[in-house]
Amino acid sequence: MNLKGRSFLTLKDFTPGEILGLIDLAADLKAKKKRGITGSSLKGKNIALIFEKPSTRTRSAFTVACIDEGGHPEYLGKDDIQLGYKESVEDTARVLGRMFDGIEFRGFKQENVEKLAKYSGVPVWNGLTDTYHPTQILADFLTLKEHFGTLKGLKLVFAGDGRNNMANSLMIGCGKIGIHFTILAPKELWPGEDLKKECEKYAAEAGSTITVTDDTDAVRGADAIYTDVWCSMGEEALAAERIALLKPYQVNDGLMAKTGKDTTIFLHCLPAVKGNEVTEEVFERYADVVFDEAENRMHTIKAVMVATLGD
Ligand code: CP
Ligand code: NVA
Repeated sequence: MNLKGRSFLTLKDFTPGEILGLIDLAADLKAKKKRGITGSSLKGKNIALIFEKPSTRTRSAFTVACIDEGGHPEYLGKDDIQLGYKESVEDTARVLGRMFDGIEFRGFKQENVEKLAKYSGVPVWNGLTDTYHPTQILADFLTLKEHFGTLKGLKLVFAGDGRNNMANSLMIGCGKIGIHFTILAPKELWPGEDLKKECEKYAAEAGSTITVTDDTDAVRGADAIYTDVWCSMGEEALAAERIALLKPYQVNDGLMAKTGKDTTIFLHCLPAVKGNEVTEEVFERYADVVFDEAENRMHTIKAVMVATLGD
């Protein structure tokens, strides 16, 4: 796997082998860190961390991973720079590209992370946009692999807002590496038809299936049930409408029991709104795996930076 110089904007741009290679690299970096061994592959590298939206995990993961590998991270919050309102994204990209060796971007428009990559000339990593959250998927897959020992052939059900960044990126990732993937959501919140078709093609190549349904019986046989907030960042005004639409899809004891398996795990990208998308009981029962998943953000983001920028 040679990803040197590549940006990480969406999993669509990566082959199944590259995605699995990043997960293996993350597992290796994690094992080393547990033994107290960190690296120096980002020594002398300066990394810009642009955040238009808030973050706990992604910001911390990029910061710690960068420092673990000997690099210097610089946080550029929404009030620190004038991205897209007093200075064009193209101009900011050209400036940052002359000073930094790599750029992380968390924000609203996918188009902006793509522009940053196009105009900066350095690797750009997508730390979440309205459309995709690709680094999260690597952490989710590392967690599934640690738990089940394998990825291909697992059945993952995402219950909730089926057209948000998480549902989109999980559908791409699962399709690519052959995890059977179901979106369980009301029709109003189903993913775009074009993206679904694209993911069905990936899944057909990898030997898995993509299902979109509003029938909760679809959780039968699931190895993992995944959920995310009902209102993503920027959509807070839609809370009442979303609660009404999504209440039947809450991950609770009843939904977990419908899998018919006692080995099913629960995953959440976090932050969680307990009482909405998941009950406190289910969340706490699976807290160990959910916080492994959160920790794995750091190891997988480190793998992305090492693979695309490291010496
Ligand atoms: N899962 C995730 O991206 O968390 P943050 O919003 O805290 O970065
Ligand atoms: N869909 C959520 C993910 C948070 C990690 C959001 O965009 O707010």
